[in-house]
This record gives sequence, C-alpha cells and structure tokens, in this order.
Amino acid sequence: MPDATTIQRMFAEVAPGYDRANRALSLGIDLWWRRQTVRTVRLQPGERGLDVCAGTGDLAFALARAGARMVATDFCAPMLVRTAHKGPAASRPAFLAADTLALPFPDRSFDFATVAFGIRNVSDPVAGLREMARVVRPGGRIVVLEFSRTRVPLLGRAYNFYFRHVLPRLGQWISGSRNDAYRYLHDSVMAFPERQQFLDLMTQAGLGEPRLRLLTGGVAAIYRGEVRG
Ligand SMILES: C[S@@+](CC[C@H](N)C(=O)[O-])C[C@H]1O[C@@H](n2cnc3c(N)ncnc32)[C@H](O)[C@@H]1O
Repeated sequence: MPDATTIQRMFAEVAPGYDRANRALSLGIDLWWRRQTVRTVRLQPGERGLDVCAGTGDLAFALARAGARMVATDFCAPMLVRTAHKGPAASRPAFLAADTLALPFPDRSFDFATVAFGIRNVSDPVAGLREMARVVRPGGRIVVLEFSRTRVPLLGRAYNFYFRHVLPRLGQWISGSRNDAYRYLHDSVMAFPERQQFLDLMTQAGLGEPRLRLLTGGVAAIYRGEVRG
C-alpha cells in the first residue's frame, strides 16, 4: 500500500484526465454504478450528506441532483479543482480539502456518508469507515461503492485480462499521465477486501446491518451499513 503522500501525488497527476479516463475505460458504466449508489442511499427530502474521497465530485453531484444537501471532501486539491466547471450552481455540493481519517466536522453532522472508489486508497479503511460513522447521526447510513472481483466464468476471464493487461496502458494514454495509477488500480483491487471480507470491515468499524449488492457481474459492489446509536 503506497503511503498517503504517494497517493496524493498519483491522483494529482491523473486529475486533469481523470473523468475522461473513467468514462472511456468503463464505457460509461461508472455513471450507472453511481446512480445505483444514489438509490441505495434512499434519500429523504432535505437530508444532509457527506461524500469523502470525492475526487472530481461525480457521486457528490449525483446525490445533490437527487436533492441532498451535499458536502464533499478529498485530500488531493488538484482533483477538487476539476469540480469547478461541473454541475449547475443551484445544486452544487460544498467541496473542501480534508483527510478522510480526520474529518473536520463535529459528531453527528450528517444523515449519511458515501465513498466511491476511495476507501481502498485510505491507509486504514476501518479507521476511515469509523470516521465517516462518527460524523453521521445514529440511524444514518454509510454507503460504499468499490470494485470487487468478478467470478463470472468466461466473460470474467476476458474482463480480468482487460483489467490487468489493457487498462493500465489505455489508462496512461487516455489520462495523459506517465505514472502507474492504472497499474495500481488493478493491483489494489486484487489486494483489497471484497464481498464478505469488506462486510466484516464494516462490522469492525461498528456499523450495523452491513449488506452488499454486486453490480455488473461482480466487477463492482455497493455496500451499505447503519450507524448505531
Ligand atoms: C479513485 S479516486 C475516486 C474519486 C471519486 N470518488 C470517484 O468516484 O470518481 C480516489 C480518491 O480518494 C482520495 N483519497 C485517498 N485517500 C484519501 C484520504 N485519506 N483522505 C481523503 N481523500 C483520499 C484521492 O485523493 C482520490 O481523489
């Protein structure tokens, strides 16, 4: 696992081409995954939400469009800068630079917290989940969108080949970045707890009722847990 400074530097380098690479490498499926994540939050009118490791803000914007009052944080300023030209001003989340392991909010500030493709990059994921839970009210929700590993027999093998051998090169090319961010993407997904193992991390973080839903043959998963009182 690279240290926090290496992670920050890596995302700073890919930031200018990050959205373009996401759309192209996933054939736009990542937008659908985020919409499913918004549905999983089960928003109530007027709710306040926090999106951590928000990057260029796609999930935060999707939640804001669905009616949530959103705050979004990330510790990589060049990623946050990319949010400046997105979305209508009326439903714009408030973006601020913050480490997910030390969120600058009082306890119980939000109704829910989300993280998309971010918790895998946090040096201590259980501490990250605990910190998210700290700032959410009892009974509130924590929703995580993350890659998992597909086990679909034939298509799964083709996808794994693409993910391991093609995507790292394509990612470099499309994002215009010289670093190994897309090799790291593959390696970190292979090493990161998924499915029941991730549900166990949620339990360790003190979350109740942990659940998961697999997306696109298990290429990604949405996890949901409740903050206990
Ligand atoms: C793969 S990007 C995901 C961005 C966005 N959530 C999305 O779905 O496109 C991961 C983000 O996590 C951020 N990140 C990683 N560790 C972090 C930490 N400890 N605190 C805050 N942000 C962090 C990185 O800076 C990066 O922007």
